[in-house]
Amino acid sequence: MQRENWTSKLGFILAASGSAIGLGNIWRFPFVAGTNGGAIFLLIYLAAIILIGYPVLISEMTIGRKTERNPVGAFKKLAPNTPWWLVGALGVLAGFVILSYYSVVAGWGLFYMLESVTGLAPGTDFAGLFVGHISSTYSPLFWHFIFMLLTVSVIGAGVVNGIQRVVKVLMPILFVLLIVLIFRSLTLEGAGAGLEFYLSPDFSAISLQTFNDAISQAFFTLSLGMGAMITYGSYLSQDESITDSAGYVLGFDTGIAILSGFAIFPAVFAFGLDPAAGPGLTFITLPAVFSQMPLGGLFGFLFFALLSIAALTSAISLLEVVVAYLVDEFEYPRKKTSYIIGFIIFLVGVPPLLGYSALSDFSFLGMDILDTYDWIANVLLLPTGGMLTAIFIGHYWGTDNAVEEANRNSMKVKVGNVYSLMIKYVVPIVIFVIMALGVFQTITG
Ligand code: TRP
Repeated sequence: MQRENWTSKLGFILAASGSAIGLGNIWRFPFVAGTNGGAIFLLIYLAAIILIGYPVLISEMTIGRKTERNPVGAFKKLAPNTPWWLVGALGVLAGFVILSYYSVVAGWGLFYMLESVTGLAPGTDFAGLFVGHISSTYSPLFWHFIFMLLTVSVIGAGVVNGIQRVVKVLMPILFVLLIVLIFRSLTLEGAGAGLEFYLSPDFSAISLQTFNDAISQAFFTLSLGMGAMITYGSYLSQDESITDSAGYVLGFDTGIAILSGFAIFPAVFAFGLDPAAGPGLTFITLPAVFSQMPLGGLFGFLFFALLSIAALTSAISLLEVVVAYLVDEFEYPRKKTSYIIGFIIFLVGVPPLLGYSALSDFSFLGMDILDTYDWIANVLLLPTGGMLTAIFIGHYWGTDNAVEEANRNSMKVKVGNVYSLMIKYVVPIVIFVIMALGVFQTITG
């Protein structure tokens, strides 16, 4: 069967941006920045995006386009009869883990979408509302199921008809809405302290954890380290340029994350909330902002609808990795495979969901189940995947081959020696040192 291609460069850029822009930007970025001192995190995160994220993003897209395969098949094709395919397999595994809890959080977003219509009166205890929701059982379970169902139905429909069609319309609307929110957030009384927290770095707040979290966040937000960009790159037509496209994806993704911070931190301080509140931050802060706006219910509904959609365009890229692997390598039928895998991932997501109710006694290194999944994926699997991908290109396949493929048909950006240097040495060494120290620190407490 002829492999599907994105129908245009724009289609690819939007799909890859759709994968990148998601809960990572609107949910994970603000709360991780909040627990790491705000501005100082922003700074180190931007460095991680440029120095590590960008070269790895180009590398993954390049491997994908060169081989036109899923991550496992891609490594098999470039390195036949070697164990390199295990890097792809690690990615497929990471896809399972991430999507399972990602869908739980996205389900919270769906819940808030409806809740906004009815329940955002000023003075509501929004922290209580959030905790009340996640520590119940059936409602989060229901929305987790609905979210997986949506994800599966897009993937079942295929690359162009499913993924590409959805993202084209929705990503621009998200952008506009975020701007409206920022405007409201910045004009709240007491917003200035939030801006200060977000923009004026406190260098004494730096720790190993800051670097660790910045690298994990860079991988997560750019959908790197597990072959999602290999898979999306594999659908990119041979006539398009990788380096030109990657720049847009990186720019859009970073832009949306930074904007989310501007929407959230001023409001956190204006309402006297705690910026280090953790995973509840977005879900507690933004409803409070909406409750203070004219037509807040409507804006709240729209915002959480778009959050859910941003999550959906990311979730489909996670599922696509697993499905593309099974379809390419075993010739399973696409639709049926999507539904079965989707259901399994739904089940894998049940423990983190119950981690706030029936399984709330569980604790691993001080983390609840959802945080544990997040840690396994973002601290262990993704950076390891990114490091091995860089080592693969730098020391097995060859940066010359990668550079040639990455630059083909480029009109604007070309990569060269700097890229090669980063991929060969900087990316693997930095990831290895920082992640190893971080894991050691976490484990030894
Ligand atoms: N980048 C997405 C976000 O920020 C999440 C995501 C989608 C992802 N695909 C991925 C993360 C692949 C890691 C790997 O929400």
